[in-house]
Amino acid sequence: MSRDTLFAIRELNVWYRQGKRKLHVLKNISADIPEGTITVILGRSGSGKTTFLRTLNRLVEIYSAEVKGEVYFKDRNIFEMNVYELRSKVVMVLQRPVALPLSIRENIACFLRSVKKIRDKKVIDRKVEESLKLADLWDEVRDRLDQPASSLSGGQIQRLAIARALALEPEVLLLDEPTAHLDPESSAKVEETILKLRERVNIILVTHSVEQARRLGEYVLFFDEGKLIEHGYAEEVLEKPRTERLRKFLGIYK
Ligand SMILES: Nc1ncnc2c1ncn2[C@@H]1O[C@H](COP(=O)(O)OP(=O)(O)OP(=O)(O)O)[C@@H](O)[C@H]1O
Ligand SMILES: [Mg+2]
Repeated sequence: MSRDTLFAIRELNVWYRQGKRKLHVLKNISADIPEGTITVILGRSGSGKTTFLRTLNRLVEIYSAEVKGEVYFKDRNIFEMNVYELRSKVVMVLQRPVALPLSIRENIACFLRSVKKIRDKKVIDRKVEESLKLADLWDEVRDRLDQPASSLSGGQIQRLAIARALALEPEVLLLDEPTAHLDPESSAKVEETILKLRERVNIILVTHSVEQARRLGEYVLFFDEGKLIEHGYAEEVLEKPRTERLRKFLGIYK
């Protein structure tokens, strides 16, 4: 069965300005990311993975990056979309998510008020509960919703950030190394949450971990020095890598 395309990316180039210099960070990227999958982005540090995620909801513009090429989100050119509409549909959870200096409840509720324009307290409470349940955090915080979110552990803050993103009811969740700073047990918990969310939302996630890519990835993009070296379904890309670079990254030596 052929799947619909979530993102169609055509000859995408991104440069950052570093003083007088321009740094070419994404080089002529073309790919189709299928809908209804967990897509995993692999690559060494500095290969452009975060920049690629940032491009998909135009967060790169915040860093005054120069962008050339085309990106279509479900057939709509993202550079012609209203940027707030795009960012409410394609939501990014940052590499080191922060708990705002507010209560656990308010960390989600303030976005429901400001982005979703919801005023009714009952509706807000219901949506806070729903999103915490989806992010598998509800049972751990239901009795302490009005305590400061700073009292949460790293793994809980990661899931709080996922809950906050889900409260916006996005179509795509962009996760930048969601388990990079977590212990193995908290990582396993976040991975479990990601697998459950797959039914509800498209997920594109960055990881350094080949094992995590094998556990979660259905579609895989491998970046190296700003170039997309290989991409395709996981069983192809991870099991039968075509390039030396990817074989090396995967730890396959012949
Ligand atoms: N806002 C910025 N301004 C200037 N240069 C940047 C900016 N963000 C990233 N870069 C540079 O762009 C390149 C790609 O960075 P990016 O963060 O996309 O890589 P990455 O693959 O996510 O790396 P990591 O695995 O370490 O997170 C790096 O050389 C980085 O220093
Ligand atoms: Mg990164």
